[in-house]
Amino acid sequence: MTISKKVETILSKSSWIRKMFEQGAMLKAEHGSENVYDFSLGNPNLSPPDSFRKTLLDIIDTQDGVGHGYMPNTGYPDVRKSVANYLSKEQSAEISENHVIMTCGAAGGLNVIFKAILDPEDEVITPAPFFVEYGFYADNHGGKLVTVPVKKDFALDIEGIASAVTGKTKAVLINSPNNPTGRIYDKESLEALGNMLMEKGKALGKVIYLISDEPYRKIVYDGADVPEIFPVYKDSIIVASYSKDLSIAGERIGFITVNPKASSKDVLLAGMALANRILGFVNAPALMQRAVSNLQGVSVDISKYTKNRDLLCDGLADCGYEFIKPAGAFYLFPKSPISDDVKFVRELQKELILTVPGSGFGGPGHFRIAFCVEDSVITGAMPGFKKVMEKIKGM
Ligand SMILES: Cc1ncc(COP(=O)(O)O)c(C=O)c1O
Repeated sequence: MTISKKVETILSKSSWIRKMFEQGAMLKAEHGSENVYDFSLGNPNLSPPDSFRKTLLDIIDTQDGVGHGYMPNTGYPDVRKSVANYLSKEQSAEISENHVIMTCGAAGGLNVIFKAILDPEDEVITPAPFFVEYGFYADNHGGKLVTVPVKKDFALDIEGIASAVTGKTKAVLINSPNNPTGRIYDKESLEALGNMLMEKGKALGKVIYLISDEPYRKIVYDGADVPEIFPVYKDSIIVASYSKDLSIAGERIGFITVNPKASSKDVLLAGMALANRILGFVNAPALMQRAVSNLQGVSVDISKYTKNRDLLCDGLADCGYEFIKPAGAFYLFPKSPISDDVKFVRELQKELILTVPGSGFGGPGHFRIAFCVEDSVITGAMPGFKKVMEKIKGM
């Protein structure tokens, strides 16, 4: 065997998103990419804001020549300070640069957190459907992902999460605005989650972390509010990135911040700084740290995603699809008109429409449409969505 058994197994199972990506590439080669309606990837289609380019040019022009070397594993102190100042307002907390670690995106950040907190067989509970990489990230560090279905309206099932907590539970991982449902968890449910974790932690005599994965915090619609995490639970950690809100997913820049009120926060932060180093990230990319430092609070023009969401929702509703309008992120998670979501996604594929089966996210009976695409992709796909629905109704 040339590669490990574990990697070989993962490769042979290949995620649904990857499968759709590969099949999409084949369809594009055959039919021309302009004739394939690709909703499979959460790769932002908007250009980064103008200020991103300006700030990059500025940094390059004024760089003193030594700005490309190693730095503290947590990142540049002045960059962390700038992030901390912004987060202090966002989270209504006194966050200092010592509570922030710059990371290689949220993906890098989650691996850093899991490396620092997980012992073999420790469990991380997450509501399902969920971002499928979570399972791999927990497994990378000996942990196990335990999933608890959300309610029918995609809200958190606090009782369900409570009954999944065991002596092995190390953390609960939530993601709001959510990929794939677009749901934003409300303040009441987060408070209930915080209270439940506090009681469970006390009863078990241990700390259970609440990890909030927030790469879509700034991508919200109709003035929706994403409630703060730090005030609802003291042992909380936020992980986020600039991939989606600045449209710079390929640049790999994000951060972790630990609640200043967390118990043992110093050792937790030291553990994560070490993890950033020994996972081989060493530190987050230097140029990108300097760029985002100047762009706190800036984001792409969300109104373009709002238009896409409305265009998609109106069109699909007319065709008879059932769904909950997303409050944030750029995903729609409609019900599959037949119970077999994989079969349904294959039907869409025959019309050159690429989506991902809900089963790939632990949410069978649904399918995911990533609407971070040109609006012409949405209008172009609508006759195909309609045709497939009519075909299924006639069966
Ligand atoms: C819920 C969620 N978490 C984390 C990530 C990873 O994002 P990043 O590019 O910041 O690593 C993604 C990317 O799609 C995501 O959807």
